[in-house]
Amino acid sequence: MSENKVIDESKQGEALMVEQPQNSNGKKLFLESYGCAMNFSDSEIVASILKDKGFSTTQDFFEADVIFVNTCAIREGAEQRVRQRLNEYKKAKKTNPDLIVGVLGCMAERLKSKFLEEEKLVDIVVGPDAYRSLPELIETAETGQKAVNVLLSKEETYADIAPVRLGSNGVSAFISITRGCDNMCSFCVVPFTRGRERSREPETIVQEAKDLFEQGYREVTLLGQNVDSYLWTGGGLKKENPTKEELEHATTFAQLLEKVALVHPDLRVRFSTSHPKDMTDDVLYMIAKHENICNYIHLPVQSGNSRILEMMNRGYTREWYMSRIDSIRKIIPDCAISMDIITGFCSETEEEHQDTLSLMEYVKYDFGYMFAYSERPKTLAERKYKDDVPAEVKSRRLAEIVDLQLKHSALRTKEGLGKVHRVLVEGVSKKSKEQLFGRNSQSLVVVFPKENYKPGDYVNVLAESCTGATLIGKVVK
Ligand code: 5AD
Ligand code: SF4
Repeated sequence: MSENKVIDESKQGEALMVEQPQNSNGKKLFLESYGCAMNFSDSEIVASILKDKGFSTTQDFFEADVIFVNTCAIREGAEQRVRQRLNEYKKAKKTNPDLIVGVLGCMAERLKSKFLEEEKLVDIVVGPDAYRSLPELIETAETGQKAVNVLLSKEETYADIAPVRLGSNGVSAFISITRGCDNMCSFCVVPFTRGRERSREPETIVQEAKDLFEQGYREVTLLGQNVDSYLWTGGGLKKENPTKEELEHATTFAQLLEKVALVHPDLRVRFSTSHPKDMTDDVLYMIAKHENICNYIHLPVQSGNSRILEMMNRGYTREWYMSRIDSIRKIIPDCAISMDIITGFCSETEEEHQDTLSLMEYVKYDFGYMFAYSERPKTLAERKYKDDVPAEVKSRRLAEIVDLQLKHSALRTKEGLGKVHRVLVEGVSKKSKEQLFGRNSQSLVVVFPKENYKPGDYVNVLAESCTGATLIGKVVK
């Protein structure tokens, strides 16, 4: 999952608020998250665990007894951002020497106790599978000792913890369905920071979706590093060789999608992230079958060249990827498709970069998340290949890719003109209080006059004009 996808960029690092607990312990928590949607979803688990212990939240870190920052390690830049933030917390520690600072998430898992040496201010280091131990870790830190728990688990899915919905618009929520990743893409640090892939019991997922619907939510996004490899066979960890009987009673991702779609026709279902090597036609037919499963697939390609894809250990070729695109177009004709692309991976030539551009021309993606390759310690690529594409070449190639994507996004947006879109209203438009915004099934933002509509309503909007990535229109009955 990309650092800035699904999550609105403005939410990165925003303090997350929880309603006050009944059993208050008088202590205040300042909690902020960086990185992918999974991190934001994890913070909702963390908030739930600490709310149970009586913590209330604050938006002012000078007021906090405990500061937690949920971190991302996907690229060097993401880590630098966290370090800058830690520097700012130093000011709060000066005014409150008892303040406890904890780092959570992928960067904590990557650096482990080294974090304590590198950043003297940090008291607690906790990996993504160890959040249940947070109350004890806080107790330890309160005695003046440092506390670390970076154990990775093969079972933990936090399935029984009801997340506290943070920074929510009351309309859309995340539900995590798998944790970890078994793929070992050579550039990626996630398998090291989030451990083995585990699927969560389907009934707990469906129950969470039902609860959300009853609370007024109208959209859920099922989250996993590779949702297509979701498989429940009575246990979370994937069996090497499941028996025929186990497979007959298993729940696949396509089946899970259907179970969630059946919760209510007015509950929209989205999911992220799909993996081209694992996305089956079953999933596509399921999307086509249910109106409330959104016609939008985030299908990271990373590169349009088969040699680079092989070095990246992605498990597919350019041709395979194109055939997946062809299947999507055939089975779900109005499906929006988005991608992640890494530019300037080890030894990438100019021709290979051109292959990425030509693949983009083939697909004409609706949206894209594009990054310059950033070497990560301990990954396969760091051990095997040289990060030899000069920084200025990486940024020039990135700029070419971004430019082309902007063109394609504008083109796709224009295709929506003159059509009626079923829009789920999310809130008031940033530009005008008189306007509301929401998304269509393809995840495109649509803006229209407010009238008496409110977040959570479905409206049909005729698109009359557009900007680069937004449709503007009026409600038609
Ligand atoms: N450098 C640059 N981008 C990366 N991503 C993952 N690892 C790296 C890296 N080392 C990108 C991929 C992935 C997304 C979540 O982040 O495109 O799909
Ligand atoms: Fe990283 Fe690849 Fe797993 Fe995505 S599928 S988290 S890119 S290893």
